[in-house]
Amino acid sequence: MKLTLTALIVLWTAALGLNAAEPRVEQEQSTNSGVYSEVQAKRGEATYTQACASCHGGQLEGDGFAPALTGPEFMANWTGTTVGDLFERIRVSMPPGQESSVGAQDKIDVVGFILKANQFPAGQSDLAKETEGLKQIKFEPKQ
Ligand code: HEC
Repeated sequence: MKLTLTALIVLWTAALGLNAAEPRVEQEQSTNSGVYSEVQAKRGEATYTQACASCHGGQLEGDGFAPALTGPEFMANWTGTTVGDLFERIRVSMPPGQESSVGAQDKIDVVGFILKANQFPAGQSDLAKETEGLKQIKFEPKQ
């Protein structure tokens, strides 16, 4: 099905006289490809301090009840998922019982801050708060 569709597109673009020799391949994105910006992480840090640090700790180390948001266990929990999954987890369940006290934009900024705290590289643009796009970004261990 996929091959057939590709073939059809190639034929169609060729018929239109476009250059079909190089079908466009979507570039794969991951936590290692600079998906958040420094500015976003900075904003996220402020929100984190205000809304998350009381449980997850000033250094994201956890408090024994709330888990750490850095380190090997956190990495193991999220490796193989996507940044969209992490965002959704925070969006629907954090802070517990007060999920709507922090807006989606603030929450995606916090995701940027969490990526930075886990030493993933920053890039030029912000993570957008749309879950669908975020689901294209693989959560991978730091390279
Ligand atoms: C009142 C304490 C409290 C606050 C405030 C809080 N959390 Fe949590 N968080 C927890 C607890 C407890 C868990 C684990 C149990 C659960 O899932 O509810 C958790 C789990 C998580 C997880 C899942 C971690 C993993 O590896 O499974 C993430 C991510 C997270 N919190 C992010 C946040 C963010 C971001 C904020 C701020 C917007 C926040 N939390 C605010 C208590 C808190």
